[in-house]
Amino acid sequence: MTNRLDAAEVERLRTDTPGCAAVTHLNHAGSSLPPVPVLDREIAHLRREAEIGGYEAADEAKAADAAVYASIARMLGARPDEIARAEHATAAWNAGFWSVPMSTGQRVLTAEAAYGANAVAFLRAQERRGVEIDVVPSDDHGQVDVAELERRLDDDVALVAITHVPTNGGLVNPAAEVGRLTRAAGVPFLLDACQSVGQLALAVDDIGCDLLSGTGRKYLRGPRGTGFLYVRSELLDRLVPDHPDHHGAEWDRSDGFRLHDSARRFEYWEYNHAGWLALGTAVDYALDIGVGRIEATVKDRADELRAELGSASLPVFDIGAEQCGIVTTNVPGRAPGDVRDSLRRRSINTSVTMADGTRWDFERRNLEPMLRVSVHYLTTSDEIAAVVAGLTELR
Ligand SMILES: Cc1ncc(COP(=O)(O)O)c(C=O)c1O
Repeated sequence: MTNRLDAAEVERLRTDTPGCAAVTHLNHAGSSLPPVPVLDREIAHLRREAEIGGYEAADEAKAADAAVYASIARMLGARPDEIARAEHATAAWNAGFWSVPMSTGQRVLTAEAAYGANAVAFLRAQERRGVEIDVVPSDDHGQVDVAELERRLDDDVALVAITHVPTNGGLVNPAAEVGRLTRAAGVPFLLDACQSVGQLALAVDDIGCDLLSGTGRKYLRGPRGTGFLYVRSELLDRLVPDHPDHHGAEWDRSDGFRLHDSARRFEYWEYNHAGWLALGTAVDYALDIGVGRIEATVKDRADELRAELGSASLPVFDIGAEQCGIVTTNVPGRAPGDVRDSLRRRSINTSVTMADGTRWDFERRNLEPMLRVSVHYLTTSDEIAAVVAGLTELR
């Protein structure tokens, strides 16, 4: 078992996080609190842009900018040229998804916990490409049924695309078991790791995914408006971005272009340089702590919260054989939006998860909107006690 962070370490990391003094932040799955080095990196670059010009500041930061690819690659066990920057996870996911060759009559396999944006893209692909979207049912634990996925994984499948950790609860889908099957079948595998990156240790070769999308602002504690896409190099030649520009492609003749031979083919020229640099700082920060230790600590915090909710006779809606830092609950008889607002007035941040985030799962489980309470390694027992006390009083 990997070592969890001890109380002294957590205290040090909380001191390094200005927001911890102001709020009880239990909305890390929405947008986490950045630590001082992330904030400083972003502000320093913005200041430099204002002082000497945006292009000139970018020139100065060239090496640091390149180092961000290396940091993300290190975190995922990938190569720097397999990483593309993106504005956020949905942009990264769409860049990957629409680049995968698919033809009429082929199928895309997914799972019930699919994120709303991805589901909309699936439905759009059904209209535009004539593919069939095949939602693999969940097993008794609530995770994607791997045996059923194996049965459906035949020659007609163009892509397997699943959400690792859904937006609406603690479920961790068995990504590595899915990857073992897709590799054996030679079918591309796109993993939405938006909610798992930064809270779970992810290694693309262990998982066996070919594409992986992530965001900066959630468990990685980076800035808003940042993200990335991992693309396995062996697959790159088969992947053509739907909307390349003259940064992702070389406009080398008047009547044509040549796509870049790295994941850069998925990027656009313009981006938020300060955000990207600060994302690199956030990734380094997580690597310094150790992603395995982060995972163990987050899971421990979430287990404690679920146990406290249970002791207070409050419901827990999380499913899955393996569970992570996202916890869903409710105060019976109270609208979760009102509960969230009441907690906010006490400086406790939570969020509400609705059907449009994960409609297939909502409908299957007959769910109502839920209060989402998401912990991180920063979360203390006092904070857990505070939110449970707040919920109990609202009952
Ligand atoms: C599972 C999952 N995937 C993708 C996204 C989209 O991420 P972004 O808002 O960075 O595009 C979210 C956002 O909450 C999510 O929960």
